[in-house]
Amino acid sequence: MTSRTSEELLAIGEVSRRTGAAVSAIRYYESLGLVTAHRTAGGTRRFPRHTIRRISIIQLATRFGIPLVEVAEVFSALPAERPPTRRDWMRISRAWHERLEERKQAIDRMQRELAGCIGCGCLSLQACTLFNPGDRLGEDGAGARRVDPGAR
Ligand code: FES
Repeated sequence: MTSRTSEELLAIGEVSRRTGAAVSAIRYYESLGLVTAHRTAGGTRRFPRHTIRRISIIQLATRFGIPLVEVAEVFSALPAERPPTRRDWMRISRAWHERLEERKQAIDRMQRELAGCIGCGCLSLQACTLFNPGDRLGEDGAGARRVDPGAR
């Protein structure tokens, strides 16, 4: 095990400068356990240099709409004392690619469903697949139904 030198640990401002992430964002990532600071002998919080790479991955995830909770999931499988390796990144990017593919398919499905309603305006609780998917209201029998499903 190597000893940690002051050159290997960065102040939060330095991490912010190098990543472009706001200090408040870095503190938020720390509160979520996505990055970890160490206390120096003087009680100052310092971040390992590889925090920069972690934050780069977080920023990428944010750009792709990957929730931070999912970033935390993949980070939980990484050792905290070293930067993510090329192999780690391949695993993470593959998982996120699949996630984006699922979202793309879900959006395609929603677009197809919505296409039938464009310009329709009927808002029919019986016929519209958006307001009554799978004719769930029909399961309760004929007649008027309440619209608020949360009231059940
Ligand atoms: S609003 Fe008419 S079918 Fe959906």
